[in-house]
Amino acid sequence: MEDTNKLKDEVESAVSRAENLDALEAIRISELGKNGRITLLMKGLGQLGPAERRLVGKKLNELKNTILDLIEKKKRVLESSGIEAQLAEETIDISLPVRPQLTGSIHPISQTIDEVTSIFGEMGFSVEEGPDIEEDWYNFTALNIPPNHPARQEHDTFYLNAEKNGERMVLRTHTSPVQIRTMQSTNPPIRIIVPGRTYRCDHDATHSPMFHQVEGLLVDETTHMGHLKGCLIEFCRAFFGVEDLPVRFRPSYFPFTEPSAEVDIGCTFDGGTLKMGHGDGWLEILGSGMVNPKVLENCGIDSSRYQGFAFGMGIERIAMLKYGIPDLRTFYDSDLRWLRHYGFQPLDVPTVVGRASK
Ligand code: DAH
Repeated sequence: MEDTNKLKDEVESAVSRAENLDALEAIRISELGKNGRITLLMKGLGQLGPAERRLVGKKLNELKNTILDLIEKKKRVLESSGIEAQLAEETIDISLPVRPQLTGSIHPISQTIDEVTSIFGEMGFSVEEGPDIEEDWYNFTALNIPPNHPARQEHDTFYLNAEKNGERMVLRTHTSPVQIRTMQSTNPPIRIIVPGRTYRCDHDATHSPMFHQVEGLLVDETTHMGHLKGCLIEFCRAFFGVEDLPVRFRPSYFPFTEPSAEVDIGCTFDGGTLKMGHGDGWLEILGSGMVNPKVLENCGIDSSRYQGFAFGMGIERIAMLKYGIPDLRTFYDSDLRWLRHYGFQPLDVPTVVGRASK
């Protein structure tokens, strides 16, 4: 009978040299397989006398268990190092620098909203939002545009199907309904701007069925037309980056303001290129006025104590003027070449101090 200790040492060193799972399996078969060394020794036990059989049988059993144990342990080692080798091989080097042509850019509408927000933010205005799908009362009636008022026709409204009570919701035609929502929910003093989407049933080179506006509202006890003028002149000069930009207030009419004024800025059309500043041209850029006392009362604000001013402007329009974008429809085409040309660097955050430059 072979010495089981010697056998054990042999198998132990073979197992430790096995470099992969196949080699390990070959050792298992050659020792413990059907015709394996140890299997054959166990088969030969029958030829031994009872006392010796018990003794050798016990030793062989122990040897078998030791070998199975060795193989199992080695198997676990080989398996985990296999995973490690695989991980090492499949590593992705995420430290590669970003290729410049893959970085996105900020859309001129987002950039313009950020710029407007930053300028009015410096003046103490905060940002409010409201729903795109609006009740008729907020979009029109509370703003002193009652049913059958001619201003309703001018708004080319998208109506939703009538509800059970016969009322039709609208896609808001301007950001002005957020004035009403804010005055209902907040006590004066109020100082807000409202950038957002607006909708009108109109589509050509200068109109899109969806466009953006920014609304402004200030309500306090001593607010007057001088505040309105100072605030909007300051805004126009900061936004267009022209310190002495001429700004003109032209009498106008809006149902929700009284008196009302449209605001024009000075410009020149030298050799076909438009430039903001002193010249003989004027460009209309926004509507404004002192909040009509009827509108204050519709929101539960005492109009004998409070006055306010309000304004509204089209984001696309001021973006087109500032950045020389000739066609409104291109804003929504998602054309990458256009976005690369007119877009802004993501980290080029607008501030009043150092305004974003391309
Ligand atoms: N809501 C107006 C429009 O869509 C713009 C406007 C004009 C808003 C005068 C105002 C305002 O708040 O005072 O044409």
